[in-house]
Amino acid sequence: MTRVELSGIRKSFNGTEVIKGVDLVIEKGEFFTFLGPSGCGKSTLLNIVAGLEEPTAGRIYFDGEDVTELSPPERDVAMVFQSYALYPHMSVFENIAFPLRVRREPRDRVNTEVRRVASLVGLEGHLSKRPSQLSGGERQRVALARAIVRRPRVFLMDEPLSNLDARLRITMRTELKRLHRELSITTIYVTHDQEEAMSLSDRVAVFQAGVIQQCATAMELYRSPANLFVARFIGSPPMNIMDARVVSKGPPVLDIGGIRVELKEERELKEHVLVGIRAEDVELSFDAGPSMASGIVDVAEPLGVYQLVEIVYNGLRLMARTELEDIGAGRRVYFRFIPERIHLFDPETERRL
Ligand SMILES: Nc1ncnc2c1ncn2[C@@H]1O[C@H](COP(=O)(O)OP(=O)(O)O)[C@@H](O)[C@H]1O
Ligand SMILES: [Mg+2]
Repeated sequence: MTRVELSGIRKSFNGTEVIKGVDLVIEKGEFFTFLGPSGCGKSTLLNIVAGLEEPTAGRIYFDGEDVTELSPPERDVAMVFQSYALYPHMSVFENIAFPLRVRREPRDRVNTEVRRVASLVGLEGHLSKRPSQLSGGERQRVALARAIVRRPRVFLMDEPLSNLDARLRITMRTELKRLHRELSITTIYVTHDQEEAMSLSDRVAVFQAGVIQQCATAMELYRSPANLFVARFIGSPPMNIMDARVVSKGPPVLDIGGIRVELKEERELKEHVLVGIRAEDVELSFDAGPSMASGIVDVAEPLGVYQLVEIVYNGLRLMARTELEDIGAGRRVYFRFIPERIHLFDPETERRL
């Protein structure tokens, strides 16, 4: 197991800086994810760890050893990409065996290792097929097996599930998690899909425009987003963000579009704050109650155990999650914000308060 350290990493392409100073330690055996919107620099940073791109500044260490000048084979990393990049004319067996053949491993060992890894990823029955005879999910398993068979120091995966359909992505997610538990190889995973990042990772670094916004466990990102960007990026539907005025001090009382909410704890706030509230932290009822506001359901999306509803009140729109049934469009509902679940952000710095 390898500990990966990135220190002061910067990268420019033609004078444009796309990685703007990244410092990170990825612990031995950790499943670590770079998460962020398209174009934020995730692949560039992963390629820098792999040795496929040279950083403009900064150093990369594997277990304390400076590997910045080493080639990808010398770093002993294995990469899995979105496109499986299999050899079409070779059987599944030969595709998986390829890295071992390159190393001129003895035949017996190739045989044993390929079969062992194929069974790890559920490909035992497919070894003599060609890639064209496999489904998308099976092809991605071949790509994974080919990476695993080398027993690399570090696994690097760049959106490996993006080409699969939604259902298969979820199945493969579980498999990746199981594989990581069995192999315990340090893994750096890249995705733009927050749900995928949350479900797989020990820790996640959220990127925007080449800068880490927050680096934390999935639950920390969800419960205490460090700024507005993370608050909006993590969670589905995105957190409701509303302007609020602080109308009295002591334990502050907020006016959120005409709704008054008294916070539990005493704290210093400026006159204006941004309030964030997740859909599940908006309590809905068909009956009026103390400190409840009322609004009209504009859209209702039944999702099985719960429904997502968009409520309009005072010209504002709000997403709420509810187990209430019969809550179709046009229905009047009453709601309140659970005060302990309110997130506060500074409107200027956009940081969490
Ligand atoms: N080889 C390159 N030459 C010039 N610009 C590049 C190159 N590779 C990436 N970029 C730019 O760097 C930025 C980050 O790209 P990338 O790392 O691929 O983002 P992500 O993987 O997060 O979508 C983008 O603006 C992209 O256009
Ligand atoms: Mg990318």
